[in-house]
Amino acid sequence: MKLLVTGGAGFIGSHFVKRMLRGGDEIVVLDKLTYSGNRANLPPGVELHVGDIAEPSHVSRAAHGCDAIVNFAAETHVDRSILAAEDFGRTEFRGTQVLLEHVRATGIRLVHVSTDEVYGDLEAGGAATENDRLHPSSPYSAAKAAGDLLVPAYVRTFEVNASITRGSNTYGANQYPEKFIPLFATNALDREPLPLYGDGRQVRDWLHADDHCAGIELVLRKGAAGEVYNVGGGDEHENIEVAERILELTGAPRSLLCSVPDRPGHDRRYALDTTKLRALGWAPAHAFEDGLRETVAWYRDNRAWWEPIKSGEYRDYYERQYAERLANATPA
Ligand code: NAD
Ligand code: TYD
Repeated sequence: MKLLVTGGAGFIGSHFVKRMLRGGDEIVVLDKLTYSGNRANLPPGVELHVGDIAEPSHVSRAAHGCDAIVNFAAETHVDRSILAAEDFGRTEFRGTQVLLEHVRATGIRLVHVSTDEVYGDLEAGGAATENDRLHPSSPYSAAKAAGDLLVPAYVRTFEVNASITRGSNTYGANQYPEKFIPLFATNALDREPLPLYGDGRQVRDWLHADDHCAGIELVLRKGAAGEVYNVGGGDEHENIEVAERILELTGAPRSLLCSVPDRPGHDRRYALDTTKLRALGWAPAHAFEDGLRETVAWYRDNRAWWEPIKSGEYRDYYERQYAERLANATPA
């Protein structure tokens, strides 16, 4: 297959590019190279179009001759969506619509990569199935849900060949260090404070990037048009437990862990029912304990990847997001 991978220079997209290249597929990447997009995530020689999924001419140029599009392009950080949400609406909704218009015009397949966060908070227990109603809590998850809603509408109205995946919290190498695991790992390695939001008892269902990509590939090859497939690790952990494990793995002192004022609207728990994808033959291959150890080791051994990121724009963001919070921190 010749595939267009949008958002392929980001965290999960670049894992997917490497996986599909190993499998012998031909890859073209379209990526806006926002703050989280990074050429260094891509193997040398990959055809990269720097452009925007919300611009029809960028999409049609990059997708020329492709058999399918896998869409990872998004603004992806909940905290940034709370600071400023505009780009989220444009990329998540308008961008998804442009991709759908392209597959409508050309008849090629689309897999749209989404998130468990569209189902909202599952504090009361249970696991979200693909038929559950969407109940997003943050500007990020609401923008993702808006993009998701377009997909079945285009399938029903125009009979496009498109499916959705909804993954749970993903971790692994090359994740921009604003997200929880790479932020805490790199801060612990630098002996900087680890800012735990609120009581730290929020639960996330952790999924290794390779397992996430295996699920997306399966949906690309075997998924049905108009269907949604959950991709969840089934490895639920409280944030405080993950933070303590990162401290152990880095040999950093417990005193670095602090409780800071909570994220507004913070979802307490996500969990996914993955029966549907498992019926296609998928199962996660990485236990969280092993994956976390390998991931922390990757950040320890790859300072050259993340140290340049933790300057400039990142520092400005860090200041806006954490300076006041850290001034109000208490021991966790
Ligand atoms: P990321 O922020 O690392 O990567 C996003 C990529 O999209 C970047 O390379 C960025 O430059 C690019 N991009 C942003 N706007 C664009 C635009 N308008 N046009 C073209 N490119 C654009 O994020 P990620 O964690 O790799 O997430 C990839 C996808 O997976 C997203 O759709 C996200 O919602 C979804 N997802 C992520 C997680 C997670 O835990 N990280 C979990 C489930 C689903
Ligand atoms: P994050 O990686 O931002 O993913 P999401 O909000 O999309 O699930 O955060 C994962 C969890 O970690 C979430 O419950 C928020 C929490 N968290 C902190 O406690 N401190 C932090 O500095 C960050 C970034 C996240």
